[in-house]
Amino acid sequence: MCGIVGYIGQKNALPILMEGLRREIYRGYDSTGIVIYDNNNDLVCVKAVGKLESLESKLDNYQLEGSLGLGHCRWATTGTVTEANAHPHWDCQKNIFLVHNGIIENYKELREKLIQEGHKFSSETDTEVLSHLIEKYFENSLEEAVRKALREVRGTYGLAVISKKDPQKIVAARLSSPMILGINGNEFLVASDPSAILTYTRQIINLDDNEIAVLKPDDFFILKEKPLTQIEWTLEEAEKGGYPHFMLKEIMEEPEAIENAIKGRIMAQEGLVKLGGLESVSERLRKINNIILVSCGTAHYAAMVGEYMLEEYAGISSKTDVGSEFRYRKPIVNEKTAAIFVSQSGETADTLAALREMKGKGILTLGITNVIGSSQVRESDAGVYTRSGPEIAVASTKAFLGQLSVLAALTVYLGRQRDMSLVMGQRIVSELAKLPKLAKEVLKSALEIEKIAKKYKDFDNFWFIGRKYNYPIALEGALKLKEISYLHAEGIGGGELKHGFLALVDEDFPTIAICPSDSVYNKMISNIEEVKARKGKVIAVATKGNEDIKKIVDDVIYIPKTLEMLTPLLSVIPLHLFAYYMAVLKGHDIDKPRNLAKSVTVE
Ligand code: AGP
Repeated sequence: MCGIVGYIGQKNALPILMEGLRREIYRGYDSTGIVIYDNNNDLVCVKAVGKLESLESKLDNYQLEGSLGLGHCRWATTGTVTEANAHPHWDCQKNIFLVHNGIIENYKELREKLIQEGHKFSSETDTEVLSHLIEKYFENSLEEAVRKALREVRGTYGLAVISKKDPQKIVAARLSSPMILGINGNEFLVASDPSAILTYTRQIINLDDNEIAVLKPDDFFILKEKPLTQIEWTLEEAEKGGYPHFMLKEIMEEPEAIENAIKGRIMAQEGLVKLGGLESVSERLRKINNIILVSCGTAHYAAMVGEYMLEEYAGISSKTDVGSEFRYRKPIVNEKTAAIFVSQSGETADTLAALREMKGKGILTLGITNVIGSSQVRESDAGVYTRSGPEIAVASTKAFLGQLSVLAALTVYLGRQRDMSLVMGQRIVSELAKLPKLAKEVLKSALEIEKIAKKYKDFDNFWFIGRKYNYPIALEGALKLKEISYLHAEGIGGGELKHGFLALVDEDFPTIAICPSDSVYNKMISNIEEVKARKGKVIAVATKGNEDIKKIVDDVIYIPKTLEMLTPLLSVIPLHLFAYYMAVLKGHDIDKPRNLAKSVTVE
């Protein structure tokens, strides 16, 4: 962490820079430096190793007068503590002088390239590549050269630069490192920290990421540079790939969605999960003791499964809510709360509003998102991509699997930060790694499921029942059927049947029971018997090898065995297929069902 200060105006810049450095010296004090555009139109640079006093004593030998200058105090990251490595850094012709706070990650390859192009470097630092890149792109406008240079840079920066070729101007830019502008009538300052310029003004502007400010003696303006976002998806992926509908293609991609969501994130030996998108907040996450998961529609059901996982395996008190309710409630949150927002599109208005509410209260906000660069990604503090690829059909399917996979991984990530054992971590991540293959097995029952859909195509009402981890899957199954087949379907917890819902059960109201062989299986069997006792027809989603269930229900769709907490990632697939085939039988527009939109960007 270094300190930057800059001044342009009518006064002599040097005392202002030194005052600023005095106040920022806590940010780094292994070496310091200043550059002044003096009254002879020369750029005079003075640097010194050690504390500010060493620079002050060097400056005693200079009569530096000029109303434009930059200052820097360094905390070495790349390059040892030497005068040459102190800032400001300059280009080959000493026309451009730059101070920087941050790290240029790809400086080695940039330096190699610039040296091959003939640039001469005078320091070991990562920063110096910036002044040479700006030199490379300089035509007549400093801000244009800075804009082009920064496009090649990967890393973090707060920087300020001046140039003899486009004098009477400071150009400042920010990506992740703090950068503020100070406005005082027609004099302007830049700094890493407000304390450096408080003596001169209380009016500041916090530069946002990817903003470039241009300060001139009588005015300033800010350019917003939109970062390039690399779309990983191929055109093929965004096409139907030979399937009659995007929805069927996306259901068939559900095993891959699990695979993509966990790829490179599982450390099987250590029973750990690596989530790069959370690194910046991992220490803060260690301190949280309650989680709120907010989302809408299908994403809400994924969040509900996450709630069960986080409570049972990470030991964190968790609760879920839908965005449209949460944004108007008065949720009890505190500094140990983390708010997780789940959204495929990252643009759902109700979820975003809830996110802004939590952000406004200083709550840690995390996003689980599929669409790269979407608002939720840009506005949340940190997050995890589901990497499900483009999801075109309005009815969300593979993105749901991506969300469940990320929530399972997050559970291990947070659990292992707490008291989840190595053995339990290893068990969950090794089962997670098997799921893509097991999901492929489930898809092999597609034709069977189509037959079952044909058998039940004339029924207008369906119950979906499930318990514990599969209660949210019952809700999801019902939503999918409603969305695209326009049939009445309700998802409920198996235990709720006798509290009223049973009244509707008869031979015309089939029930789909999600009952893998888990800790609540016997309870589900009692619920199925309650339905059967009222002549209700039952289609069961059960664990392969469970032959007994065939004796109780009308139809069975089998899924492979896995950990209880991971069964939703298999049990939902037959429900997505059932809904799809029902809608096909009804001849509806599968990918663009009536009255719905892929991303609900309005309240
Ligand atoms: C699901 O099939 C629907 N398209 C809808 O419920 C959707 O899940 C909801 O609108 C949330 O969308 P999001 O994940 O993009 O935020």
